[in-house]
Amino acid sequence: MKRILAYLSDRRNVPRLHEHSDETSLPIMKDANIKLLHIDSSIMQEASVTRQLSAEVVAQWLRVHPATTVQTLDLAAEAPNHFGADAMGIRGVEQAEQTDAQRHENAVSEKLVAQFLEADVVVIGVPFYNFSIPTQLKAWVDRVAQAGRTFKYTEEGPVGLAGGKTVVLALARGGIYSNSEAGQAMEHQESYLKVVFGFFGISDVRVIRAEGVAMGEAQKATAISEAFEAIPALLADESSQGQVA
Ligand SMILES: Cc1cc2nc3c(=O)[nH]c(=O)nc-3n(C[C@H](O)[C@H](O)[C@H](O)COP(=O)(O)O)c2cc1C
Repeated sequence: MKRILAYLSDRRNVPRLHEHSDETSLPIMKDANIKLLHIDSSIMQEASVTRQLSAEVVAQWLRVHPATTVQTLDLAAEAPNHFGADAMGIRGVEQAEQTDAQRHENAVSEKLVAQFLEADVVVIGVPFYNFSIPTQLKAWVDRVAQAGRTFKYTEEGPVGLAGGKTVVLALARGGIYSNSEAGQAMEHQESYLKVVFGFFGISDVRVIRAEGVAMGEAQKATAISEAFEAIPALLADESSQGQVA
């Protein structure tokens, strides 16, 4: 992954947004082994801000790495069930003779955690719902948070097992929360996901956010445009880990 990021850190390799680019002039990194998982979780379709942002992140990535294998997961269309008792097999509960429901829930969890573990880059569109993430995305987190797969407990405390990935969070919020202490205290979207992915051992979590999209058309347009403009730097700058927009 370091090699990929070093390559991207050369701005000349990254096409600028909204700029016409001659695709044939772009250098091609011949690395067909990169796997990118593109997750969306907005309940909206065309009207979704986070779907636009996550799609643009993936599009820009692919311009530089056209051989990347992309898997998509639309959690609004195919969310796992809420985490219930039948799914407790992944939390170490004995299921000696599995019921059909338990078998089904275990298979769903296994599919999702295997898909996540396989990915080198994970791009997630994350709306802000009621101060947190969509319930569909939380259900996904509950399936991939598995001892022995994404983390383990040791005598020294928890250790993440899913390190080495880059996670890009494409966020949108109706209000503005990032520029005040009161706002930050109410924000359980970005802060929560950084905790989750940090717990999984992933230190490279990058963020773009469009804030205030419910504060009038002008603010919405500015927020989206600024988030779009932040994408090249987000993908290019190795030292930008954490937060760009
Ligand atoms: C069910 C729901 C709950 C929301 N809750 C909040 C909220 O607590 N605070 C906020 O600033 N915006 C809230 N919003 C506004 C969304 O964050 C905003 O519309 C954002 O663009 C959603 O992402 P999307 O456009 O990709 O769907 C909410 C929207 C919905 C649909």
